[in-house]
Amino acid sequence: MMYNIMLSRRSIRRFQQKPISLKILKKLVNTARLAPSAANLQQLEYIIIHDKIVCAHLFETIGWATYLTPKWIPKPEERPTAYIVILVKDITNKYYQRDVGLATENIVLAAEADDIGTCILCNINKEKIREILYIPTTFAVDSVIALGYKAEQPIVEELKESVKYWRDNNGVLHVPKRKLDDIIHVNTF
Ligand SMILES: Cc1cc2nc3c(=O)[nH]c(=O)nc-3n(C[C@H](O)[C@H](O)[C@H](O)COP(=O)(O)O)c2cc1C
Repeated sequence: MMYNIMLSRRSIRRFQQKPISLKILKKLVNTARLAPSAANLQQLEYIIIHDKIVCAHLFETIGWATYLTPKWIPKPEERPTAYIVILVKDITNKYYQRDVGLATENIVLAAEADDIGTCILCNINKEKIREILYIPTTFAVDSVIALGYKAEQPIVEELKESVKYWRDNNGVLHVPKRKLDDIIHVNTF
């Protein structure tokens, strides 16, 4: 079951406009709260955004799917209905990015289990996000997770020449992944 959730999760960039309840969004952050963290320092905090107006402002701070040409962004009727912004208290801690990665993965897998699509976003305007959300300077803005009920299901392809994902003529996203045999070494390199 967990294995299937891990396999089926894809980055989703087209969403239904049905809202995700605050209760579910809090449940997702709860999985990040209990994620492993280096020295159990628990330096991460989270801002849940589900207000329509704030979501609209946040949308403007995000760089979507840079591999797609011509430039593509979600249409108004397919934009995320919620976001989780990840904040870090102390970025001098050399393991903080691992903490973020682990917390993020918990959130996106828990979302997948509830059939909620997510997209991890690092191509973001952090200063603008700080402004919009009144984030104090004692926290660094790390990344954003866009969320919503899925309105697309990307397809995994065997990676041939390029790592670049693409949309076909029907708008379906294809995501190349390396083959298992190409990344596993058994007993020796
Ligand atoms: C650290 C990180 C940053 C990412 N930043 C962005 C981003 O800014 N914009 C975007 O559209 N996708 C972003 N993604 C999503 C990746 O493009 C996506 O994970 C990759 O194409 C593989 O597809 P998959 O998630 O469906 O397996 C990011 C993913 C990760 C892990």
